Amino acid sequence: MDLATPAQDQRKSVGRLTRLMARSLSMVWQSARRPFLALIGLQLLNAIALALQIIAVQLALTALLQITAIAGDLWRLVQPVMLLAGLTAVTAVIASVQVGLWRYAGELVVAVMWKRVLRVATRVDLRKFESARFYDRLQRVQANAQTRPYQITYGLVATIGAVAASAALVVTIVLIHPTLLPLLLVGGVPVLLTSRRQSQLESDFLARQTQSMRLRGYLTWVQTGRDEAKEVRAFGLARNFGQRLNTLYADYLRDLAQHLWHRSRLGALGSLGSAILLALTLFLLAWLISTSRLGIAEAAAALVAIRLLAGQVQSGLNGVQAIFESGSFIDDLDGFLTLAPAAEGGSREIAPPADFHRIRADAVSFSYPGRSQLALQAASIEINHGEVVALVGENGSGKTTLAKVMAGLYEPGSGAVRWDGTDVRTFRPDLFRERVAIIFQDYVKYALSAEENIAVARPDDEIYHAAVREAARLADADSFLSALPSGYQTPLSRRFVGGHELSGGQWQKVAIARAFYRSAPLVIIDEPTAALDARAEYELFSSLHEVLRGRSALIISHRFSTVRTADRIYVLDHGRVVEQGSHDELVALGGQYAELFHLQASAYSVDSVLD
Ligand SMILES: Nc1ncnc2c1ncn2[C@@H]1O[C@H](COP(=O)(O)OP(=O)(O)O)[C@@H](O)[C@H]1O
Ligand SMILES: [Mg+2]
Repeated sequence: MDLATPAQDQRKSVGRLTRLMARSLSMVWQSARRPFLALIGLQLLNAIALALQIIAVQLALTALLQITAIAGDLWRLVQPVMLLAGLTAVTAVIASVQVGLWRYAGELVVAVMWKRVLRVATRVDLRKFESARFYDRLQRVQANAQTRPYQITYGLVATIGAVAASAALVVTIVLIHPTLLPLLLVGGVPVLLTSRRQSQLESDFLARQTQSMRLRGYLTWVQTGRDEAKEVRAFGLARNFGQRLNTLYADYLRDLAQHLWHRSRLGALGSLGSAILLALTLFLLAWLISTSRLGIAEAAAALVAIRLLAGQVQSGLNGVQAIFESGSFIDDLDGFLTLAPAAEGGSREIAPPADFHRIRADAVSFSYPGRSQLALQAASIEINHGEVVALVGENGSGKTTLAKVMAGLYEPGSGAVRWDGTDVRTFRPDLFRERVAIIFQDYVKYALSAEENIAVARPDDEIYHAAVREAARLADADSFLSALPSGYQTPLSRRFVGGHELSGGQWQKVAIARAFYRSAPLVIIDEPTAALDARAEYELFSSLHEVLRGRSALIISHRFSTVRTADRIYVLDHGRVVEQGSHDELVALGGQYAELFHLQASAYSVDSVLD
């Protein structure tokens, strides 16, 4: 969760509005063309109906006045009154149809937007996720993705509709009597002034409260989180967090009350202004009538037009406000989506070979974005076909980083990873990644069935049930998976009905089965033994060569009982390869490896006594 983002930029300018309008238009146009066109069509219809209402009012009054003059002829009134009633009905129907259409269009925009965002999020260079700016932006897009597309669709339709309706009203009034035009325009002024100021107040308030809102969201989330629940109880955090939340809420509510008070005062002021203006308009109209410059019917039509126009100005301003409020979301989304071309991996088309004789990392260096220190410094390692190679080293020595470079997830800053002499950067990235089965230190525990948790290693194939079982058997996971309530179909998360939670060691075995299930010539497993007990580890790794069946493996481990079975061991220190050789060679060398080995051997003997 992102707490550090500065208050949203709420600057308003015509240039920015034009740009945001254009972006909103293209977004809605590309994802919801038909409902959008229907909505615009309805708005135009609405504009015409409004204009016709003015004419109907005028006709009705003219007829009424004639009735009083030529007594008895009530029939003259029927037509204009029917017209007025019909038009009122039409605008009401339009409004209700629009609600449904608007919701549907908004949902279409949401769907298309998610498709694009996920396309980029899942393909963009992994290094991007190390950048706080990138990740914050992604989080903000995600947080707003459910509501903003609706707001954008609404804002666009409301603005276009209000412009069309205002134009229609103006034209009608000019047709009735050109001198009424200035009156009409003045009528919109109070709303324009007060609602502009109101929306300014609103965005100031939101900007002021953004930080507190995030913090409140976070504190609520922590106190309801599934993973956090145990720690909240164990540490007794509820009171502390609850108090913080109360303080924040109290501040927020105080600010809200003040803000609402300001807003309603402003609203009252606007209404008062409108009333005074209306009175003045009435006087003016009366004067125009008394001096025979204007008929009573025209004057009444003008009054109705003024009221309708004020409504349209208000709805147009709401639309513009909605677009402005979505502005930072649109910026974030655009900023995020422009990363797409880089995500496609350029024009590399060469397919990697199905297998290899030798993989070499040649003097590979790598640094994480925003870090000056190199995580890897000219590290060279070699894996021959069918070999098990181990990486050892202290925390932070670069083992995981090297594994990711070997798997093609990071590109080295200098040096290269070569498969039989060919730089892997010339291979098509997605095809190259298919050649590697990597299980991370923090592998993902999918809230899917046991079978799917293994079969995700071949996501594009159908699930081969027998092969899943075989992989599980090799990873020593078959016995406890078959014993689950619904066997391999049991969801591995209590989040779902009938779900079952595995222990840490059991999960580790499922992850290892995942690596075996993927048909890749190179298997990389980062600290596979961390959660395994000594017996499980021994059983798994003493037979690793047989289990791999001709595949090669790069294993990262702190346990020497695992490491010593490897054909070759590389010792990393501060990103450099400092020692290499077999277990016996390295122990004989008496260097860092030997030191770590003896340290653990003595600790182990103490442990086994305590066990
Ligand atoms: N995502 C990251 N962003 C920045 N630095 C990182 C990141 N991951 C690891 N590092 C740094 O790179 C170095 C090597 O880390 P890593 O490869 O994870 O070591 P190991 O797996 O041997 O414990 C460490 O100094 C670590 O702090
Ligand atoms: Mg690591």
